[in-house]
Amino acid sequence: MREKNIVWHHHQLSKEERSSQKGQKQCVLWFTGLSGSGKSTIANALEAKLYEMGQHTYLLDGDNIRHGLNKDLGFSDEDRVENIRRIGEVSKLFVDAGLIVISAFISPFHSDRQIVRNLVESGEFLEVFIDTPLEICEQRDPKGLYQKARKGEIPTFTGISSPYEAPATPEIHILTAEKSIDELVNMIISYLQEKGYLYASTY
Ligand code: ADX
Repeated sequence: MREKNIVWHHHQLSKEERSSQKGQKQCVLWFTGLSGSGKSTIANALEAKLYEMGQHTYLLDGDNIRHGLNKDLGFSDEDRVENIRRIGEVSKLFVDAGLIVISAFISPFHSDRQIVRNLVESGEFLEVFIDTPLEICEQRDPKGLYQKARKGEIPTFTGISSPYEAPATPEIHILTAEKSIDELVNMIISYLQEKGYLYASTY
């Protein structure tokens, strides 16, 4: 006869167990900066480097998320707030999975970034300000969007006809001028190492 009095112990895995298995402390590196500031480029290079080091990451990128999860959203203030709210919740889930999340969105409003900071635990939200002056972003204009915005063809374009609120006290302040992508990535890696986020690093 089968034992009736056996109690099944549901072992609830904790976030800390998931992240320590990966040799890291879970966090979201929240990149913010103007369009054309280099967020996606630096975020991609950072993810590749962390992967090489044996870390476990996931990259959330503005242009891609806007083709899927957030394809119903535009660039009004209201839609940007909702864009960041959803990305914040998704980041929180991936942080709970024990990952190092890298998110790369303009996220122009201070209050929205603060909401995401409050969604996760202390030490899990690292604001990374990709600080490239508007003039340089506009000169680069990789997608031709600044030119269109100046002609009035794109309403509410960040930095032209919609505000960008720069972070006052970001955890990591990346001044991009005159630095290579490699150097910028290494600055972020050094921060993570110094603060104990990468304790099983193969480096
Ligand atoms: S956010 O403001 O809501 O955080 P997000 O990072 O998702 O923006 O998307 C920004 C990208 O959308 C820009 O890099 C640019 O390619 C494109 N884009 C299209 N229209 C706009 C606009 N009005 N303002 C800013 N970026 C725009």
